Amino acid sequence: AEAGPFDLRRESDRATLDEIRAGMDEYAVLVFRDQLFDGGEQLAFARRFDGTLHAKTGAAVLGKNRLGDEALTDISNLDEGGQLMQAGDRRHAYALGNRLWHTDASFQDPPGRYSMLLAKVVPPVAADTELADLRAAYDALDDATRRTLEGLRAHHSIAYSRMTLGFEFSDEEQRQLPGAVHPVVRTNPRTGRRSLYLASHAAHIIGWPVPEGRLLLRELVEHATQPQFVYRHAWREGDLVIWDNLATMHRGRPFDDTHHRRELHRVTTLDIA
Ligand code: OGA
Ligand code: MN
Repeated sequence: AEAGPFDLRRESDRATLDEIRAGMDEYAVLVFRDQLFDGGEQLAFARRFDGTLHAKTGAAVLGKNRLGDEALTDISNLDEGGQLMQAGDRRHAYALGNRLWHTDASFQDPPGRYSMLLAKVVPPVAADTELADLRAAYDALDDATRRTLEGLRAHHSIAYSRMTLGFEFSDEEQRQLPGAVHPVVRTNPRTGRRSLYLASHAAHIIGWPVPEGRLLLRELVEHATQPQFVYRHAWREGDLVIWDNLATMHRGRPFDDTHHRRELHRVTTLDIA
C-alpha cells in the first residue's frame, strides 16, 4: 500500500509509529513518497520504528562501507570513489546476489525484520524491485503441502546463495558468515497469519538429504513468486519502501548497471521480540 503523506524524519510519537506497524502487519509492504532523509536521519527513524539494527551484513566482510556505517547498507552500483563499478569488480559480483529472490539477513539469528530502502538516485531506465507476498503464497498451498512443511526448518547461508552465482567467499570470510536455522513457516504473533519463510539463502532442510530439501525449497519459491503474489515497485527518487522480511521475499530486476547510476540506502532491523 502507499502510505502518507508523512515526513518520516519528524514522526516519532508512539501512536503514529504504532499505526505504521499495524499497516505493515496488514500490507507487508508500504511505500512512502518524497522522503528527505540523510543517512543519520534514516538510521534514527529505523531505531525509533523498531529498535535494533542489522549491521553484520555479508558486505561487511568484504571491506569498509562507502556510507561509513555498517547499519546503512549501500545498495548501489558505485565504488568507494563514487564511480560506476565495472563487471568483474568483486563488490559488483557480490551485489548481483540481490537479483535472486531473498529476504534480508535470513542468514542471521535473530534475522532481519523490517527493511527500509530509500531511493537516492534512480536511473533513467527501469530498475525495479519485485516483492512477493509469502502470506498469500502460504494461504494458497494445498493441505498436503502444508502438512509436509509442519515443523520444518531450513539452514540459511549467504555464502551458499552467493556461491550459486559463482561468487566465492574465502575460508576466513566464511567463518564470519556461519548462517542460521529458521522455520520454513512463520506466524506473525500479532495477527496470527502464517507465511512461508524462503530465500536464495536457504541452503537445505534440516534433517533431510540435501537434494530433496533443495528441490522442495525451489518448488516453494516457484510457487510463491507467481505473478498474483508479486508487486513490482518502479522507483522514484525519495521513495522509501518498507517491507516485512518475515512476510515477503524480494529481488532487484536487471538493468544496464555499468552505464546508469542507481543509488539506494537500506536500513534493516532485527527480529527481536
Ligand atoms: C535490498 C535489495 C533490491 C534492489 O536492498 O535488500 O535486495 O532492487 N534490493 O536493489
Ligand atoms: Mn535485499
